[in-house]
Amino acid sequence: MRAFLGDKVIVLGVTGSIAAYKACEIASRLVEHGAQAIPVLSASAQQFVGAASFEGITGQRAITSMFEPAQNPDIEHIAVARRADAFLIAPATANILAKAAQGMADDWLSTTLLATRAPVVFAPAMNMNMYSHPAVQANIATLQSRGCAFVGPGSGQLACGDMGPGRLIETQAILEALAVALHHDKPLAGKRVLLTSGANHEPIDPVRYIGNRSSGKMGHAIALEAMRRGATVTVVSGPAEVPPPYGARVVPAHTASAMLEAVQAHWGESDIFIGAAAVADYHVENPPAAKQKRSTATVHLELTPNTDIAAWVGLNKRGHQIAVGFAAETHNHLEFAQEKLRKKQLDLVVANAVGVADSGFGKATTRAWLITDDHVSAALPLMSKEALAALLFDAIAGLPAGVSAAPRA
Ligand code: CTP
Repeated sequence: MRAFLGDKVIVLGVTGSIAAYKACEIASRLVEHGAQAIPVLSASAQQFVGAASFEGITGQRAITSMFEPAQNPDIEHIAVARRADAFLIAPATANILAKAAQGMADDWLSTTLLATRAPVVFAPAMNMNMYSHPAVQANIATLQSRGCAFVGPGSGQLACGDMGPGRLIETQAILEALAVALHHDKPLAGKRVLLTSGANHEPIDPVRYIGNRSSGKMGHAIALEAMRRGATVTVVSGPAEVPPPYGARVVPAHTASAMLEAVQAHWGESDIFIGAAAVADYHVENPPAAKQKRSTATVHLELTPNTDIAAWVGLNKRGHQIAVGFAAETHNHLEFAQEKLRKKQLDLVVANAVGVADSGFGKATTRAWLITDDHVSAALPLMSKEALAALLFDAIAGLPAGVSAAPRA
């Protein structure tokens, strides 16, 4: 997330919900990712949390009153409205949503929300009956129609004892929504990206499986970058340490055959396929329904090859559609990747090095090459998976039948 939030000025508006204490963690994560967080506490937020906590975490003076600006021009609302890269209101109460929707300006936060042209993200938190009230829903719809983004709320046990929607969503989801909002350029708006991500678990019996290594980090970075550029993203996800980002449609698929089925169901409506999953190459035919007892004898497993999903996509590609694969290799990276490009009829293959300390499964960084029909990039420098995802979409836009040049009918 550092790639998206680093050096950004984020106004963190905290309003008076019981969840206000969770905004301390949000502030802390913003700072951890290199953002400058300017805390703003509404009068009722200050009944739940103190300015000193936010000042300690962010190293910034917390804005708590409309009339401070006279003493401190740095926090004068027009100056902050201009300086901010984004506004994040978390937690957002029914009251701030109503004020923002109506254009009211009776405190520092509501006034500055009128003055800013930066993206605004609301993370609502309130009682479920309040959240589902038509007045609140109408305010949300109004703000969405003006381009404001919403993240959450989550569902579950609320502070009031009710069960339902109204919980402040997890901090990770809030940061992901903020990363999407911060990207102004949306060249993939209206496009649909279909992505496989994560590992596969092929069952041997109800308690054992054959697995492979994929943390889901590369898939997460690709899905987030696609959404930042405006695409609608469907992630066919196997088991992964890092789940797909907030806002992606997720189709869980633990085995290669389940992944194939999901890809076949969604490919027709998609513009771009990216195969980032470590798809299992084999499965056990008809695994027993009962757990197999351990024995001292050697066990022989008969393994049947799985269908190649990327090759199926390559074969079933129509004019405007683009298919991208990965080639995770320990050696002969370019040769094997070019062979995969050709055999699977892909438009682009990302070759990446595995089995080295700074690249491959579970690592934050990667060493890669981008390979198209007529071009093999020089070895890209060691970079984060987020940076590789950005280069990948730049390369896709530059493909001859690039989706950017061929709008969806
Ligand atoms: N892939 C796929 N379906 C499979 C196997 C692989 O969609 N059954 C995709 C992967 O998601 C990746 C690309 O094909 O985008 C290459 O996968 P990789 O595991 O590197 O290569 P394989 O084709 O499995 O060949 P090998 O293991 O021999 O290198």
